[in-house]
Amino acid sequence: MRKVVSVCLVLLFINIIIIVVESLNPTLDDDVLGLIVFKADLQDPDGKLSSWNEDDDSPCKWEGVKCNPRSNRVSALVLDGFGLSGKMGRGLMQLKFLSKLSLARNNITGSIGINIGQLVNLRVIDLSQNSFSGPVPENFFEQCGSLRSISLANNKFSGRIPDSLVSCASLGVLNLSSNQFSGMLPSGIWSLNGLRLLDVSDNLLEGEIPKEIGGLYNLREIKLRKNQFTGPVPEEIGACALLRSIDLSENSFSGSLPSAALQKLSLCDYLDLHSNLFTGEITEWIGELGRLQTVDLSKNMFSGAVPNAIGNIQSLKILNISDNGFSGSLPASMINCKNIQILDVSRNSLTGFLPTWVFQLGLQAILFSENKLSGSINGAVTSSIDVSHQNLQVLDVSQNELSGEIPSDIGRFTSLRFLNMSKNSLTGEVPETVGLLKALNSLDLSENKLNGIVPQEIGGATSLKDLILSQNSLSDNIPSSIGTCSSLMSL
Ligand SMILES: *[C@@H]1O[C@H](CO)[C@@H](O)[C@H](O)[C@H]1NC(C)=O
Ligand SMILES: *[C@@H]1O[C@H](CO)[C@@H](O)[C@H](O)[C@H]1NC(C)=O
Ligand SMILES: *[C@@H]1O[C@H](CO)[C@@H](O)[C@H](O)[C@H]1NC(C)=O
Ligand SMILES: *[C@@H]1O[C@H](CO)[C@@H](O)[C@H](O)[C@H]1NC(C)=O
Repeated sequence: MRKVVSVCLVLLFINIIIIVVESLNPTLDDDVLGLIVFKADLQDPDGKLSSWNEDDDSPCKWEGVKCNPRSNRVSALVLDGFGLSGKMGRGLMQLKFLSKLSLARNNITGSIGINIGQLVNLRVIDLSQNSFSGPVPENFFEQCGSLRSISLANNKFSGRIPDSLVSCASLGVLNLSSNQFSGMLPSGIWSLNGLRLLDVSDNLLEGEIPKEIGGLYNLREIKLRKNQFTGPVPEEIGACALLRSIDLSENSFSGSLPSAALQKLSLCDYLDLHSNLFTGEITEWIGELGRLQTVDLSKNMFSGAVPNAIGNIQSLKILNISDNGFSGSLPASMINCKNIQILDVSRNSLTGFLPTWVFQLGLQAILFSENKLSGSINGAVTSSIDVSHQNLQVLDVSQNELSGEIPSDIGRFTSLRFLNMSKNSLTGEVPETVGLLKALNSLDLSENKLNGIVPQEIGGATSLKDLILSQNSLSDNIPSSIGTCSSLMSL
């Protein structure tokens, strides 16, 4: 009898110890168990998870695992670029204190089977650059009140973006780019007024931007690039006063731009509207956006003159207005755009002389092809010889109405890789100085009225791969020195 009682006491004692230990560290085992189950669903060919040992009491020192120092519970799982494949399994659901889940740049496949809504502490989810597929479950976002940032970018998710997204009232960053999401954006998106970054580019989305966009007054960056969006840009976008970056390119947006609204976006440094169906003129409002660095309006149906006010944008680095119906001459005020590097006005109806300032600003690329520019190119280049010419890599003035001789100062553009003056009315001889262009890959002077002989000195352009001189009045003798252009592939 006594023996039985003492055995019972011992058992009781052991139980008390277990209870005490458990209450000190209530569900630590849940985290170990959860992570081991999570690991079991993955392949880890690089052995990045080899420190994950199920016999450990705590996962807090495991590779990629971070714990909250007070609770000792797993707060962050950051396994970016670990080379993992396989599935994202239910083990995660054990990690009740998880606040950050980052599995970016792996090769995890399958659909999202779990309901992260149950992880009530989750603030950051980054599943970008994996091979997840299938639709995002409709209830995925249902309890996402704590979520600050989610990226599902660069996967193969498809179907509609769930309406439950509207529950993510604290969301600041939403990046769903480069997937196959289709249909309209859930209307609730436009009520997430904490949103700072919205990137849904490169999907199959459609519909219009509603006037409710005006409610997103925290928005810094909006990227709708490469979808099937239609309709005009609503005036209400003017209320998004913090916008720095706007990318609506490669859609079917139409109508003229809401100038009074855009004028208010004075913090904007990136404006990309290329490949849409926009019409109308670009007026002086653009000069109010004094921080713009990149402006790409190419491949639209804009018309009218390039506004004078563009000269106010001193920070401008890239201006691409190619493939539109711009007419008139480029404003002389552009001499003030001291930081400009790339100027592409190809395929418009610009008239007037080739401006001198384009050779005075140290540009890297000057693309003027297929316009109606006239006058002598010699004048424009030669009157700017004091300025450093070292930056210019690409000069294309082809298919205009330029006349006069090719300036011998061309030899000063020692970084030039690509020179196209074809389809003009240039006269005189090919200057000897082209031989100084050691970096030149491609020289096209075809379809002009050049005469004389091709100079021996051209042999100095040792990088030349394409030399096109056809349809001129040049004498037939190809200089023997051309043999030194060892990389020449076509003549
Ligand atoms: C990802 O996994 C798929 C199949 O599981 C495989 O074909 C592919 O090569 C992997 N990609 C990378 C980048 O490891
Ligand atoms: C969205 O995520 C992709 C992939 O990680 C990244 O390249 C892109 O820059 C992100 N978008 C924004 C606006 O930060
Ligand atoms: C300007 O835009 C056109 C059309 O979008 C593009 O093809 C071209 O490469 C751009 N120019 C430069 C210099 O990037
Ligand atoms: C030079 O420009 C003309 C007309 O724009 C074009 O047809 C030709 O292909 C260009 N040459 C090269 C080498 O790109």
